[in-house]
Amino acid sequence: MTILPILLLILLIKTPSICHAGFAAKHILKPAVTSGGQLTSLKYTNVGGSGSYQRVTGMLEDDGLSCSKPKDFCIKSPVTVSGPLSPFDSDLTLVFSGPTKIYNIAVYQPPGSSNTANWARVSRFKAGKPNPKNLVFMNNQGGKIGSKSGTWGPCGGSSQSYASGDFAGNVSTPNQEVFTGDVPPGLEVNIMTSTKCTSSSNCPGYYRGTAHAGWSGSKLFVIEFSMPDAHDIAMKPPAIWILNGEVVRAAQYGCNCRGMGGKGGCGELDILENLKDAPYNGISELYRQVPINRPGKLDG
Ligand SMILES: *[C@@H]1O[C@H](CO)[C@@H](O)[C@H](O)[C@H]1NC(C)=O
Repeated sequence: MTILPILLLILLIKTPSICHAGFAAKHILKPAVTSGGQLTSLKYTNVGGSGSYQRVTGMLEDDGLSCSKPKDFCIKSPVTVSGPLSPFDSDLTLVFSGPTKIYNIAVYQPPGSSNTANWARVSRFKAGKPNPKNLVFMNNQGGKIGSKSGTWGPCGGSSQSYASGDFAGNVSTPNQEVFTGDVPPGLEVNIMTSTKCTSSSNCPGYYRGTAHAGWSGSKLFVIEFSMPDAHDIAMKPPAIWILNGEVVRAAQYGCNCRGMGGKGGCGELDILENLKDAPYNGISELYRQVPINRPGKLDG
């Protein structure tokens, strides 16, 4: 398995309305949609606008081990959002799909809800070092037999749980073990702040199990990571995604507010997805609420 040299990803999500991803590496992924050239940066403009999505407001769980109403348990209610960055000004999480090695993560934000130039580092992770600052690694292993954190329901499945140091399992408290930074093939891990959900004011939408808030407002993620060449692996190619925090707090795969493409949703930015059939090529896509009068625009 060839490992790509380290990539540095700088993701800026900022009012008024830009999502900007910058890449630095020796082998840089090429955009899948344009021919030739290496991709060094990617900018989405006009990302937000007025529209609505279906927010999850509850789950009607059954007592037993099977779900009697698989179609009706997921309670949703439309919510209207607006603003030039919406919904990416909501609290967000970053999801890493393995095989990926994470070396460093730093998150910067302006103070409070202001948008001044004085951004400060609010979160920090370094592989192999204990106690990341204001950053918690989570995965979707809640509540099943043997699980140490989170919850499970026959309809909603596993909630989030606190990830173990190798990212492959779950532990009972946030960041209980030291993280190697290696996300195993076929597994996913996501990051949240260390703020637990206590009300809808710090965590919008329905949440269960071990629920934490993501980063709201303007934010800058700086990530140092590497990924193998996708055509070498038999399974799902590695990827890095942004999701609205509401998605993972309900159920990342199942009852959530995500929507897909034309159906709209509460916000997903596929920053980088390795393409299996085209090594060193990647794809990036942005999904959000509908309708938005102004079309988002991607400059590759
Ligand atoms: C959670 O971790 C425990 C060990 O801590 C393991 O037995 C269990 O299978 C894990 N849950 C899932 C869903 O992988």
